[in-house]
Amino acid sequence: MLHHVVFSSFYTFNDVLLSHGLSPKVALLFDRNTHRLFSQQIFQTFHQANIAQSSFVVPASESAKSLRTAERLYGEFIKNGIDRATALVAVGGGVVGDLGGFLAASYLRGIPLAQVPTTLLAMVDSAIGGKVAINHPLGKNMIGFFYAPVFTFIDVDFLATLPKRDIYSGLAEAFKYALIQDAPFFDRLESQFERVVSLERAAVEQVVKRSVKNKLRVVKRDFKETLGLRALLNFGHTFGHALETLSKYRAFRHGEAVLIGMLCASALSKNLGLIDDASLSRIARFAKRFPISSRLLKRHFFDVEESAMESAMQSDKKKERGLIRFVLLRAIGEAFLCNEKISSRDIRRAIREAKRFLK
Ligand SMILES: NC(=O)c1ccc[n+]([C@@H]2O[C@H](COP(=O)([O-])OP(=O)(O)OC[C@H]3O[C@@H](n4cnc5c(N)ncnc54)[C@H](O)[C@@H]3O)[C@@H](O)[C@H]2O)c1
Repeated sequence: MLHHVVFSSFYTFNDVLLSHGLSPKVALLFDRNTHRLFSQQIFQTFHQANIAQSSFVVPASESAKSLRTAERLYGEFIKNGIDRATALVAVGGGVVGDLGGFLAASYLRGIPLAQVPTTLLAMVDSAIGGKVAINHPLGKNMIGFFYAPVFTFIDVDFLATLPKRDIYSGLAEAFKYALIQDAPFFDRLESQFERVVSLERAAVEQVVKRSVKNKLRVVKRDFKETLGLRALLNFGHTFGHALETLSKYRAFRHGEAVLIGMLCASALSKNLGLIDDASLSRIARFAKRFPISSRLLKRHFFDVEESAMESAMQSDKKKERGLIRFVLLRAIGEAFLCNEKISSRDIRRAIREAKRFLK
């Protein structure tokens, strides 16, 4: 149940669409930003190739991943005659990709989906692997599907307009793959960091391709997250989600929260005697190269009690049988899912240490 990932310039999209056996009929989903930035170029490409198109726009905000927005769009789809032969093309970051995927999986019991990620985070992570979801007031990504797109189309030129903060956020997810299963990738990220951040094409493409390969390697073996392999992709997320929840998703970019979370999980791994001091220092040195606002760090991490973070972690949906299952490191490039209970003392100590590193 795995999809293709195509790296190309957007003007070749039509050929890719048709070569995947899809009809020349698309429903484009944008958020307000991607609509403003890219719709002209995209409309033109489709127009020239005689592809029938309709487009739908949602707010550029996490709040668009809601049942309410989905309901509105189902109505618009019906009114616009979107049928099973129409491919839904989601053009945007993780929000549009997750919402678009949710709609494609559910509308008419499923219509074809193509992901066109335009943020680095979506290129390296959210548009790959077929997890799609919307949020519920009681929890993020609580309602969704495993629904693979027919293909994901990556054109790194879309990143030219992306704010630097979002570039760093995506890079944090690439760093995650290096830590969990690809140590040589960490060497590369360390040496190529500045080139990627300044969007040198070759460097960016290399990071995206390597990340996609890493993600597909896991997803291929455990599409529905039943074997504990896909769960490794949640490295840093238990701590990170706690920070996101406590700040009501308004403070950190997802990648920033994950980066802090990975530092906590690495400190925990060191305190449990799994990795050495030198590995933790190297991870922390790299994490410090990501410029997270010191005001945000203070207010939404340093000033947050370790106990409050721990309680927020208890409500994480990834808990199993009442046990928080941590992804820990045995080495840089080797993560595993820990089956044992970790004491409060160890959790809090790891958070304190991560704070010290970032101060
Ligand atoms: N499905 C998965 O496997 C998965 C994995 C990780 C994250 N996610 C989800 O992804 C979402 C976060 O994704 P994100 O970080 O891409 O956020 P996002 O979709 O909110 O995009 C960030 C901002 O960048 C804007 N934008 C998008 N492309 C742009 C471009 N090229 N130039 C300028 N601005 C652009 C957007 O309008 C938005 O304002 C969260 O909802 C998270 O739950 C899903």
